[in-house]
Amino acid sequence: MTSQIDHLLSENRRFAPPEEFARGAVAQADLYDAAAADREAFWGRQAKDLLTWAEPFSEVLDWSNPPFARWFADGRLNVAYNCLDRHVEAGNGDRVALLWEGEPGDSRAVTYAELTDEVKRVANVLTELGVDAGDRVAVYLPMIPEAIAAMLAVARLGAIHSVVFGGFSADSLRARIDDAGAKVVITADGGYRKGKVSPLKPAVDMALADRGGQGPQATVEHVLVVRRGQNEVEWTPGRDIWWHEAVPAASAEHTAQAFDAENPLFILYTSGTTGKPKGIQHTSGGYLTQAAYTHRNVFDLHPETDVYWCTADVGWITGHTYVTYGPLANGATQVLYEGTPDTPHPGRWWEIIQKYGVTIFYTAPTAIRSFMKIGRQVPQGFDLSSLRLLGSVGEPINPEAWVWYREVIGGGSTPIVDTWWQTETGAIMISALPGVTETKPGSAQVPLPGITVDVVDDAGAHVGNDAGGLLVVTEPWPSMLRGIWGDPERFVETYWEKFSDKGFYFAGDGARRDEDGDIWLLGRVDDVMNVSGHRLSTAEIESALVAHEATAEAAVVGASDETTGQAVVAFVIIKQSYLDKHSPDGLAQALRAWVSEQIGPIARPRDVYIVGELPKTRSGKIMRRLLRDVAEGREVGDTTTLADTAVMSVISAQVR
Ligand code: PRX
Repeated sequence: MTSQIDHLLSENRRFAPPEEFARGAVAQADLYDAAAADREAFWGRQAKDLLTWAEPFSEVLDWSNPPFARWFADGRLNVAYNCLDRHVEAGNGDRVALLWEGEPGDSRAVTYAELTDEVKRVANVLTELGVDAGDRVAVYLPMIPEAIAAMLAVARLGAIHSVVFGGFSADSLRARIDDAGAKVVITADGGYRKGKVSPLKPAVDMALADRGGQGPQATVEHVLVVRRGQNEVEWTPGRDIWWHEAVPAASAEHTAQAFDAENPLFILYTSGTTGKPKGIQHTSGGYLTQAAYTHRNVFDLHPETDVYWCTADVGWITGHTYVTYGPLANGATQVLYEGTPDTPHPGRWWEIIQKYGVTIFYTAPTAIRSFMKIGRQVPQGFDLSSLRLLGSVGEPINPEAWVWYREVIGGGSTPIVDTWWQTETGAIMISALPGVTETKPGSAQVPLPGITVDVVDDAGAHVGNDAGGLLVVTEPWPSMLRGIWGDPERFVETYWEKFSDKGFYFAGDGARRDEDGDIWLLGRVDDVMNVSGHRLSTAEIESALVAHEATAEAAVVGASDETTGQAVVAFVIIKQSYLDKHSPDGLAQALRAWVSEQIGPIARPRDVYIVGELPKTRSGKIMRRLLRDVAEGREVGDTTTLADTAVMSVISAQVR
């Protein structure tokens, strides 16, 4: 860790915004002054300027019952109206909202008027299916325009969506549907991934299968199915409904009703330190305010001329805030791409940028690093000159990748915004302002105007410049999570207990301030891994591993990986009866496949090591730090607190 930090801090390249960019930028330096002068008044102004309220709010923030915040609480609005109807009413109905590109090369342009129409129809269908304000609707779809329409139709009704990433397994889907008590599931037959149809509906059928007694089959009344993959699907009459039959037949008349600003908008599950994913809850007015504010200012959005593209899937928070809500609230034109970056050829993304003249591009470091590996000749085969701003999100971006991104993709001139935030924060918190900040490769740098963060020691004291510690948010912010679905205690415990005397939000990230006071993110300080910008919990993968009949015990660590940031590495003790009958290689393969089936391909361990023992303290706690040393090929650290100090040499020998 120390050498990594030294390496980062020796990075001293600086990039000032291009003059012309700075002059025309949406966000100027005075934004910081305005926020500093009166933070709440500042957010109140953003909410009024960026959104349309059916009933105005009189109070910006109610923090009388921390950590349960209420923003703009007596105001009323409709989130979908803000993303759709009002743009049509303002005469922008013909503006393209979505430039959709399917993986096989089919494409569709959807205007704001068309999307508004579609969402109204879907809202009418959902109403017919019994969906009412406050009901939960699970969405399990590929990256197709219907995914966005589904989210907005649920929001339009004041209901709550729970989008589940299409790469999650039937079991993961089942757990999420069950936890939220969803009434309807919106899915597709399948979607295109890596050149072929990847089925989705069968996973829904499996998730809803009756396993006796309780379970999602008890709450889910209907499954609305988009036809996309044309793959054959099983059908449960009465429960299953084709989108292409129901939606076009529904009326396109639908008046959006206003809901309280604190009306729940969505639940999104994310991995924590325990085996059970947390349903992070977000609400309407504050979330949409910060989504629109950050999307406009961080990405310097000029909605009349820009073509924006965020490559995230709507199954993640980045897709919620920077594909669905931020861009549509701001009336942006954006690209939506269904497939993988390298199908049918390694230049697919660059071809899309060239085809649509993308001006603003937002992606994850892991993608940039894998393109670096392939080589610059691939992007250099395309015209990327339309790009004027690049963004990065999801994990620390190493300076080498940052500089490559700027040079090869950004033509050596585009500003890069490295944006730090989380599922829980709802929207960007730390980032450069592209027309203002002199950027530093590898550092997310400064909190946005209106956001207050700090780096503190274990006791919550500010560490000062040129020192490391824990990242905290010191004051409530509009798009903050409002809770964990069904578990208010876990919400308080996870985020607020550590610094309860100060009232700080504990982000779970290590950070360092450099001598200028700029913030460098150093990764998680808990048992959460970050693989390709996706959050995975060691405990969740361990419990999947021990659920396999061959496993006696398992420990999982996140080991650094050149491309994916971190990779899942598992150490597994196998039951003797299985060891007698199977080869270690065969067992390792079987366990990798098993985890992929149980949770989803993103959780598949890079390595599974079959070992005879695990390093434990005298109290029985697994010392993951030592396993990480082995996984990263380092000399094993201090083993004196182990119950059996010899165990690490045995493990090292077995791994080798
Ligand atoms: O560790 C931080 C890392 O991703 C975590 C949040 O993951 P998730 O909720 O899945 O949201 C990802 C997309 C917002 C954080 O706790 N992280 C996110 N962005 C950055 C980052 N680490 C360093 N730099 C970033 N820009």
